Parts: sequence; structure tokens; C-alpha cells
Amino acid sequence: MTYLTVYSDNEQPETLLETEDSAEIEAALKDIDVVLRHWQVIDDLPPDAGQEEILAAYRAEVDRVIAEEGYTFVDVARLHPDDSADWPQRAAAARQKFLAEHTHDDDEVRYFVSGSGIFYLHVGGKVHAVLCEAGDLLSVPKNTTHWFDMGTRPAFTAIRFFHDDDGWVGDFTGSPIAERIPDFDTIAATRAARTG
Ligand SMILES: [Fe+2]
Repeated sequence: MTYLTVYSDNEQPETLLETEDSAEIEAALKDIDVVLRHWQVIDDLPPDAGQEEILAAYRAEVDRVIAEEGYTFVDVARLHPDDSADWPQRAAAARQKFLAEHTHDDDEVRYFVSGSGIFYLHVGGKVHAVLCEAGDLLSVPKNTTHWFDMGTRPAFTAIRFFHDDDGWVGDFTGSPIAERIPDFDTIAATRAARTG
């Protein structure tokens, strides 16, 4: 279930809203032109399902999004803890990649098959921190200022949609704002305490 926290973007950010009410979340995101939809989660996908199996399971929904928005490239990104010696380094490197504020010249569209991650959308003097989980499809329009935190123990599988396949480049703003807004681990802990 999606969990939204909205912060002011000043030096000492204040929490303006915390909610897991889906209508309230969708309304707040609509105000900043971000679309959140929910698909029925397919429960019988094996945890080690590959890209083709995942895309086949969600074929009808994926095809609808492609038809509506004209995406030409779809893939599956996945990151899950394993026992390898280099996992902590790989996890930290993956987390770091988009942890600072940036934009892209393509939309950022993600469907969470499993796991979770937080998109931070910095628009109009506020930061909307959208914690997405299985079943959530988030569409962030191109050029929206944002960052993404997968937490210190990343675990997610996500379908990604692109208008082209020639690279996924972040244009970093140089703003340190991401450092003063609560991170994934903090928000996840706050939410767990609130919802029990
Ligand atoms: Fe991004």
C-alpha cells in the first residue's frame, strides 16, 4: 500500500501531511501532475521469475500503458539481497546512484511487482515522498525534479517504461536537499510505528 509524506522544502523541513489513504494520496499527487495507479498484484509469480515471465504476467496492463503513453521500451529492474560477499557494496552503489536530486528528459514510470522504494518529488516548495509497494504504478513526468531512495537494504522488482532505450541519464541539480529530508529507512520506520 502506498504511503505519502509531504514536507516543506526549507532548511528545517516540516511534515505537512502523512497518509496512506489512497484517495488523499492520488489527489495530492494529481496537484503536481504525478499519476499513481494500482494494478491487481499477481500473487502466483515465483520470487525468482525472470523478466519475460514478469512481463507476460502483466501483459494486458503493460500493453495498455504502452498504448496510452507511447512507450517503446519496457524492462524489469530488480535488486534483492543475496549472500554474496559483495552484496553490501552493490546495494550501497545502487542506492547512491539516484539518491541526489535530478531530472530526466523522459518520464520515470515504474510498476512495483514486489518490494518497495521511495520517490521524492520536489515541486512547488514541497517534497512529496511516495513510498511505493507491490501493485503501485507511479508516473513521474519528464523534467520533474526528484530523487529515489531504495533504503540501506534494497529489495524490489519493478517494471520500467521508456520512450527510448538509448540510456537513462540523470541530470543532477547539485542541490543538497535530499540530505535534509528523511530517508527511506526513516520513513519506513515512522510508518511502521504509526500503522503497527
Ligand atoms: Fe530519476
